[in-house]
Amino acid sequence: MITVKVYFSPATLDEFDLRDKTIVVIDVLRASTTITYAMAAGAREVIPVASVDQAMKIVGNLFSTATMLCGERGGKRIEGFRLGNSPSEYTREIVEGKSLILTTTNGAVALTKAKYARHCYVSSFVNLSASARVLAELNDLEETGLVIICSGRENDFSLEDATCAGALLSLLMQVKEIELTDSARTVLSIAKEYGGDILRTLQNSDHGKHLAQIGFAEDIITSAKVDSVPLVPVMDQTVIKKKIVFD
Ligand code: MLT
Repeated sequence: MITVKVYFSPATLDEFDLRDKTIVVIDVLRASTTITYAMAAGAREVIPVASVDQAMKIVGNLFSTATMLCGERGGKRIEGFRLGNSPSEYTREIVEGKSLILTTTNGAVALTKAKYARHCYVSSFVNLSASARVLAELNDLEETGLVIICSGRENDFSLEDATCAGALLSLLMQVKEIELTDSARTVLSIAKEYGGDILRTLQNSDHGKHLAQIGFAEDIITSAKVDSVPLVPVMDQTVIKKKIVFD
């Protein structure tokens, strides 16, 4: 029996409580989607960091042409950074072989909380089935339990992440026996209600509306394409270097 717990924001999470767990971090709009695109395009690694200052510090230490500063604040590219947080920016021409230091408002913060995890995966709709498959194939999931961290928005709930968590969980339940906590039951019912038309759900979400307003409507369409990138980025401590690729 696998115990599943879902957090709706990383705000109150203590990284030590996540020690030795299996963790999935979801930020549909857009960090998880973007990281998956970056890894698919051949990025050498993605290093998520919580603040702009930290990103500058790391890039200073690692200084080389193979390192790039990436990320957003308020959804927009940070001044002086090479890339923002749109999946479409992360093309092979630009990111192949590169180390990407990524800071985003919620998703990167959620990832930094998972540094003591036994396993940590980056999930969204674009790699939904691949993520479920990775979890289903783990042989210690019963021992570690599963913690799904929805990155949320401004330290609060976001509909798109909760819907994705529920969709992931219902796939996993087809092949594994799950012990449902209250939070797991909640995302399952959210996915039932809002998982039928993902694009519409994303477009109508608070963050989806904000992104459309500031000119990133295309990113919402990209992020709603279920199973378009059959690859799961894996974070080991503080770095996403590995990826599990399916055909
Ligand atoms: C975040 O981490 O808060 C998001 O990815 C924000 C965004 O849409 O860029």
